[in-house]
Amino acid sequence: MSSAPSDSSLPVVIIGAGLAGLTVALHLAETQPVIVLAKRQLEEAATAWAQGGIVGVLGSDDSIDSHVKDTQEAGAGLVDERAAEFIARHSAEAVEWLVARGVPFSGDPDGPLGLHLTREGGHAVRRIAHAADATGKAIHDVLLAEVKKHPNITLREKWMAVDLITNRHLRKSEQEHQDVQRCHGVYALDIETHRVETLAASAVVLATGGAGKVYRYTTNPDTSTGDGIAMAWRAGCRVGNMEFIQFHPTCLYHPQERSFLITEALRGEGGILKLPDGTRFMPEHDERGELAPRDIVARAIDFEMKKHGVDHVWLDATHLGEAFLQEHFPTIHARCLLLGIDIAKQPIPVVPAAHYTCGGVVTDLHGRTDLPGLYAVGETTYTGLHGANRLASNSLLECVVLGRTCADDIQGQIPASAPNVPAWDESQVTDADEEVVIAHNWDELRLVMWNYVGIVRTTRRLERALHRIKLLRNEIDDYYAAFRVSRDLLELRNLVDCAELIVRSALSRQESRGLHFSRDYPRTLPVSFPTILCKKPKKKDAWLP
Ligand code: FAD
Ligand code: SIN
Repeated sequence: MSSAPSDSSLPVVIIGAGLAGLTVALHLAETQPVIVLAKRQLEEAATAWAQGGIVGVLGSDDSIDSHVKDTQEAGAGLVDERAAEFIARHSAEAVEWLVARGVPFSGDPDGPLGLHLTREGGHAVRRIAHAADATGKAIHDVLLAEVKKHPNITLREKWMAVDLITNRHLRKSEQEHQDVQRCHGVYALDIETHRVETLAASAVVLATGGAGKVYRYTTNPDTSTGDGIAMAWRAGCRVGNMEFIQFHPTCLYHPQERSFLITEALRGEGGILKLPDGTRFMPEHDERGELAPRDIVARAIDFEMKKHGVDHVWLDATHLGEAFLQEHFPTIHARCLLLGIDIAKQPIPVVPAAHYTCGGVVTDLHGRTDLPGLYAVGETTYTGLHGANRLASNSLLECVVLGRTCADDIQGQIPASAPNVPAWDESQVTDADEEVVIAHNWDELRLVMWNYVGIVRTTRRLERALHRIKLLRNEIDDYYAAFRVSRDLLELRNLVDCAELIVRSALSRQESRGLHFSRDYPRTLPVSFPTILCKKPKKKDAWLP
């Protein structure tokens, strides 16, 4: 039995200040001290870049069943019905919670709760609450302002979690007092002082977002390097469905704006995809046309680009008229205009780009991972909601609904004993000699993933990718063992872990389903299961079921 003293005064450490992290923080801070880490500026997060909106089952023409059905259809047979039903059932209160905090959603006096609801691909009805075309920023600004004022929340900007502290890190004498494996805190790099600090915690929450930066072209911000997934994996947690990387069909194709998304809501409101000669092509691929689920639209664009040897296709919204476009899509209108594209007069050049990580750390509907004391919420997780392809605007919803249940679960826990956590050991490392190696490896990894693990896959290409990833991993591990850590090195180490998880998951799926399409296995099997990877435990870490 553990004999170390119990310490309920330790804070909960939340890694990440996107919608998932801020939601957990605001609920938890009602009862206990919380520290929130953000590895770059607080404003930098995928949340702040979200455009289309958040699902709310609010309309009189809508129902929980209808949303669950759409989620399941998009998810191509791998959606966990319990997760989809639970999250749909709490969607109205999630939107109401945001409205109550002051999020300025677009209004419609005749709409439910006075909100204007828009539509996106795969949704049977209008059910997306939005703040014009900058919903994420509207939400993030409001929650960040509230978190900054909260006396129980300490924000640590430019602090990067390095690794989770588990029993393995404790001194031998302390290990003897721990009867179960658990997470005791996190080592975190203060980017400004270059020091790695030890943060002991009563619980740790991973809210680190997705891993889109593992691809050369992505809609994601620089923060999306899969840190939470990699840290949880290294700590022995299971990781699920990593082969299902969602490529958003319409990212702006422009040399100065590699990551600018053109929201699906533009297609929801009538935007049409066209070839360079002006021909509409989506109806040939799917009867739902431009509003088919994302995997289908992205694959269709990829197919047409290859068939016609073009670098992009066009998204034409000119028929919607200048006034409508300015009212509903002011951000896209202004950003494109700055680049010389008047979307009221010209079609927009678009290409698919990596957008969303459907898989991640396996959790239940309270954010609990395999490791006691460790929780995960948001894009970093695999909860079963997204299956083989996420339905548009379900991600922000998942952050709010499961952010709350995660906080409730932490509040209900009896504090565990607090061991003496050793400080970070830098005695064996020196300053890096050639930082440029890191930049080269970053570029190589992202290009390998883009070229060999993209929208259409083959076994041979996946094997080629795995081979290169293993070589990169060896170099990165050597570098990590020899030199002081930096943000770039840590992100690269995490990306290479995520890349390997994606490729291994893709190789193990011998069928095509949702976002995973393999030329070698084009058929969809009648019965299929999520891909759950489980680390082979080392003897001393052998605690997994
Ligand atoms: P993020 O918002 O990505 O936040 C991650 C946080 O973790 C950041 O604060 C980051 O600094 C921090 N972090 C990461 N690693 C570390 C570390 N090691 N140490 C410390 N801090 C760390 N979804 C929808 O539902 N609707 C939409 O309309 C929509 N539009 C989108 C548009 C774009 C362009 C993009 C990129 C995504 C969009 N998505 C949308 C997806 C959605 O925005 C994200 O899935 C969601 O916001 C993820 O929230 P999160 O809190 O999990 O992560
Ligand atoms: C978009 O606005 O097209 C993105 C919506 C999403 O990713 O859910």
